[in-house]
Amino acid sequence: MPITHVGVVGCGLMGSGIAQVCADRGFPTVIMEVTPEFLDKGLTKIRTALGRAVEKGKMSADQRDRTLGKLRGTTSLEGLRECDLVIEAATEEIAAKRKIFSTLDSLCPAQTILASNTSSLCITEIAASTKRPDRVCGLHFFNPVPVMKLVEIVKTLTSSPQTIEAIRTFSAALGKSTILAIDTPGFIVNRILVPYLLDAVRMLENGVATREDIDTGMKLGCGHPMGPLELLDFVGLDTTFYIANIMFEEFREARYAPPPLLKRMVLAGHFGQKSGRGFYDYSAR
Ligand code: 3HC
Repeated sequence: MPITHVGVVGCGLMGSGIAQVCADRGFPTVIMEVTPEFLDKGLTKIRTALGRAVEKGKMSADQRDRTLGKLRGTTSLEGLRECDLVIEAATEEIAAKRKIFSTLDSLCPAQTILASNTSSLCITEIAASTKRPDRVCGLHFFNPVPVMKLVEIVKTLTSSPQTIEAIRTFSAALGKSTILAIDTPGFIVNRILVPYLLDAVRMLENGVATREDIDTGMKLGCGHPMGPLELLDFVGLDTTFYIANIMFEEFREARYAPPPLLKRMVLAGHFGQKSGRGFYDYSAR
């Protein structure tokens, strides 16, 4: 069954980006949020992003209107019952995700594929909350979704080869390159990225160098677009702390253990760009 109609659960930073890319590539896309206010906020984010693309001459006004015409909002999972693929990008809480998946399982046709954008939770556990574990997999996008060219496909012990193939074809239609990982914490990218980010925090904590020199080192020495501390501010210190804890719990290896400074910054509410303060100050923005 080809994927023609897409549903996205959650219209936060990742969900809105995913919905935008799907609609832009011509897929009729339904976005689900829990309240009209959250839904409106997410749709406004998409409208603003598309408006900026038109202003910059990266997109025609016609294409923007076509993309917006493909998008529809709903505040109930029932609104996703016609979809061939539902991509869940809700809060990173296992109980909430299990509930969403079991509800979607009871609503959607048997052939519908259910995918999670989780960066850290166990997809196998999410799949086990459905009666279709063969049609459940991970589909992990990167922030900012419209810009980053990669998606990670995550195969559980129960995902069928047909599901993975359908998701590969769909990802290619979105213009994304794919990599395939089995369901282990961090998959491929975060398994490497998270210990790297934690090492940068340890380096700062131990007084090896200033935040600017650590970031400049990795930008100019290795060609990264952002230094690790800038990237932590971009991804969110709270998000990284959360992922690191899950990885540490599972692997019990010191390199995944969040350093004390990271924990204290999170406790102080210094989450990075989203809270106005992280390793750098964004309060003037
Ligand atoms: N949302 C949407 N688009 C954005 C954006 C955002 N937050 N930030 C920048 N962009 C777009 C701009 O509109 C611009 O598009 P254009 O070329 O079509 O005009 C393009 O990105 C480049 O932006 P800028 O020129 O303003 O800025 P930069 O050249 O500095 O690029 C960046 C910004 C793309 C964010 C770049 O710094 C970068 O690639 N940083 C690294 C991002 C990264 O590593 N992401 C992965 C994080 S890990 C993750 O997501 C996994 C999770 O599980 C933790």
